[in-house]
Amino acid sequence: MNLKNLFFRQTEKALRTLPGVQHKIEQEYEAMMTALERSLKPYRGRFPSFARLPEQGRPREEILQEIRALCEEEEALWREGYVSGAVYHGDREHIAFLNQVYALHSQSNPLHADVWPSASKFEAEIVAMTAHMLGGEGQEICGTVTSGGTESILLAMKTYRDWARASRGIRRPEMILPVTAHAAFDKAAHYFGIKAVYVPVDARFRADVNAVRKAITRNTIVIVGSAPSFPHGMIDPIAELSELARERGIGFHTDACLGGFLLPWAERLGYAVPPFDFRLPGVTSISADTHKYGYAAKGTSVALYRGHELLHYQYYTTTEWPGGLYFSPTLAGSRPGGLSAACWAAMVSIGEQGYLQAAKRILETAAFIKEGIRRIPELRVLGDPLFVIAFASDTLDIYRILEQMTRKRWSLNALHKPSSIHLCVTLRHTQPGVAERFLDDLRQAVDYVRAHPEEKGDLAPVYGLGATFPLRGLVSDLLKKYLDLLYKV
Ligand SMILES: Cc1ncc(COP(=O)(O)O)c(C=O)c1O
Repeated sequence: MNLKNLFFRQTEKALRTLPGVQHKIEQEYEAMMTALERSLKPYRGRFPSFARLPEQGRPREEILQEIRALCEEEEALWREGYVSGAVYHGDREHIAFLNQVYALHSQSNPLHADVWPSASKFEAEIVAMTAHMLGGEGQEICGTVTSGGTESILLAMKTYRDWARASRGIRRPEMILPVTAHAAFDKAAHYFGIKAVYVPVDARFRADVNAVRKAITRNTIVIVGSAPSFPHGMIDPIAELSELARERGIGFHTDACLGGFLLPWAERLGYAVPPFDFRLPGVTSISADTHKYGYAAKGTSVALYRGHELLHYQYYTTTEWPGGLYFSPTLAGSRPGGLSAACWAAMVSIGEQGYLQAAKRILETAAFIKEGIRRIPELRVLGDPLFVIAFASDTLDIYRILEQMTRKRWSLNALHKPSSIHLCVTLRHTQPGVAERFLDDLRQAVDYVRAHPEEKGDLAPVYGLGATFPLRGLVSDLLKKYLDLLYKV
């Protein structure tokens, strides 16, 4: 910990013990939560709510009507392409097809491979098809289906920890990752007792290779790179980073949660995609999300490894439990076989040509949007991304622009360090008129903020706190209260 951080930590601790300060902070939190509650619970008062089981079960038709009303009236913005990322396909027929498959398999559980052998078939084929797509042909690439990108990342980091302990006797494991790597890696560090060693990114928001080289110690178990990163959509120099790892016998994980199902097709279409997959000998694991650009229903991802020896450190087995010999490949025990069936069905119904065509539409739309943003003098695109477009402003408060976009119904991602926002382009944005509407709204938002310098944005304090306020513990408390609020009936 450097001196500056130490100073802020101590100051924070001291400040929080002052009763006056504590009280003031609590009051601020309450005010913020009350304001948030209204927007987070728009259904309040219009739909029945339950803090205990109803005495008698309710009629199914009534329940269906209520759920339909909730998603059609309140939650349809993504259909019209107002949302960054989140729903990556979203065509009605595609969704109806996945739902049909899910309905056939809603009771299946891959934990019971004897009862549902087809669930294992679907998962084995999802893994094989993903490995093939990511340069695994002719190599021993294996893996498992997980519940999402975070689980794939958690498992991969646990795998490296256990592998390094067994094969190299490392008891104080360290992972090296660019600051732009997904928060799931930090979560893994917390869960599994791994020290996260952060390195900066360069002016194009790609991991600084020299900083990674310098950060390697005897305790380094894995180096991480993103293809691309969530915040700025930039692909780290995976070739150089994975080679560094290979030379030193360290693991290298490519986080292709976001790009795994898009970049292979972008490359085939002739876009400049730096190498990131198993064609690089130093890449020892990859996470790739089927529930993003794989166009599956939410709740699946793939964790891939170079060789079964490594994968075995992911598996869990116990031979002593009175419940019998127990083993499971991932974090969960019982798992939703219906989601694996729907994921498999998505992949084989779309096929290579379908993914290629989808990638073409997305990349062309993203290029159009990127160009449109570049033409707005007040805005600046960060790096040179393919389909996740982050932008900032040197002259206007970007969070006020975000606020104006939110007023126009857009749901974009707010970033900080540096202050910016991004749009993750999906098939939803390739619908006629959506990209044009985005740029029109953005131009108007910028015009508005430029014309009203006296107004202060609602969002700025929240994000400003995260971006500029050193008291990180306080922000964490606030986020925990936010989570409490989500679970409030
Ligand atoms: C690069 C990257 N990695 C990991 C994740 C985590 O995925 P999930 O939200 O499915 O857990 C995301 C999610 O957006 C991501 O963009």
